[in-house]
Amino acid sequence: MTESSANTGASPISTEAMLQRFLLISRAVAGQLDFQSLIQKVSEEVGFFLPHDHIDVCILTGDQDMHVAYEARLHTGWGDAPDPVPVSVSPIRSILRGEEAFILTADAQCDERFHFVGAFSDPIFDARLRSRLHVPLQVEGKVIGALSYSCHARSVYEDSHVTIAQYVADLLSSYIHALHQGERARNAAIRQAEIHAHAEGLRAGALRLTEALEQERQRIGMDLHDQTLADLTRLNHSLRRLRNRPMIPGDALNQLTDDLEVSLQELRSIIEDARPSVLQLFGFDQGIEALLERAVASQPRAIDIHYSDTTGGAGNDLQETLQIALFRITQEAVNNAIKHADASRIDVSLSLKDDSLCLSVSDDGRGLPEEDADHLGGIENMRTRATLISAEFCIAPCSKMPGTCVRVILPETATRSGIAALDEQTEDQDARIDS
Ligand SMILES: Nc1ncnc2c1ncn2[C@@H]1O[C@H](COP(=O)(O)OP(=O)(O)OP(=O)(O)O)[C@@H](O)[C@H]1O
Ligand SMILES: [Mg+2]
Repeated sequence: MTESSANTGASPISTEAMLQRFLLISRAVAGQLDFQSLIQKVSEEVGFFLPHDHIDVCILTGDQDMHVAYEARLHTGWGDAPDPVPVSVSPIRSILRGEEAFILTADAQCDERFHFVGAFSDPIFDARLRSRLHVPLQVEGKVIGALSYSCHARSVYEDSHVTIAQYVADLLSSYIHALHQGERARNAAIRQAEIHAHAEGLRAGALRLTEALEQERQRIGMDLHDQTLADLTRLNHSLRRLRNRPMIPGDALNQLTDDLEVSLQELRSIIEDARPSVLQLFGFDQGIEALLERAVASQPRAIDIHYSDTTGGAGNDLQETLQIALFRITQEAVNNAIKHADASRIDVSLSLKDDSLCLSVSDDGRGLPEEDADHLGGIENMRTRATLISAEFCIAPCSKMPGTCVRVILPETATRSGIAALDEQTEDQDARIDS
């Protein structure tokens, strides 16, 4: 580098002074982590030998066919563009495409190179820019953008300014390139995180949906099992008993038809809204009583049934989901007592114990078999129903009678307002953890 007269027209600058200036630029931009602060610093430091009213750094993005601009001193439409702009409309597209080494103009407002059909050149007039000087930013021989200086006055720049401008551009190119790559990597990481979060959200949603569907499937399966299958089994037994008779009495046929009608109604009820119609019609207490009466009505030998509620009607106050679950468990326990226990008495009771609601179904039958049958029948259904409403379930020998006792204990949190209370409890726990 030799003596230069590239400053504002005053005395030539010594090579040493130039080097000092470049060092200052280099130090000023080092550590700037975004383009806006970087161009601000460049503007502050280069004014000494490159006078300007406006300065901008233009960066190629995408597949080099778009660009963004960051500017200092004056704000124009170039820097305000919210999205990348096509290179094809840039007034300095020849530089961005590597077709020209620089552009120097004494008056950009009348320079035809900046004004073509579709050119994004309004800012030249809006900001009253006349003298302009543009040089490319290059990394490994490839153009990555351009550095531009503009003044309101005409004919400010001359050839010696071009050389200095290119030195500054070369000094900054690698830094700008690294900043750009860092920004791209950061944006890619943010996009990746967003995609991941979206996929995770979908996955969680799908999981919840699958769980809900699975619960619904289980519930309908259990309703069909507890209600319809039990009714059909009873009808089948009655038909078997009648099969060997020479004459079928009209009463028996009427009973069968009635039972079949009831079974069909129940099936319709399960299909229509999956809610036991007796609960809808009579509420929990009377629903259980009706269930007991109906279950023993068609039995060949008398079975004593007792229902006691010492809770003052807590069953009727339960949320519908809980009522249905307890009703279905009672139904299966009663069916089992009739089917397997050869019981002469079945007691159902609803009581409160340590703030928990306790439902029990006891029989005085032969008791559970010694060996556990390994099958997914009604006992498993009862257990699942209890789990779904956060209740404890057990089936064991009865303490008061020789037979079997099925017990469901619903904790107070679940009885107060059902699932909503459980959700509340979870939120409380979350809040405690957060604080
Ligand atoms: N109250 C009871 N007294 C005596 N044995 C019982 C009683 N409840 C259940 N069992 C025994 O437990 C077994 C399993 O009952 P579970 O309800 O799971 O199936 P299941 O009644 O045989 O068939 P499903 O309920 O599918 O119609 C029964 O086969 C029976 O041997
Ligand atoms: Mg059963």
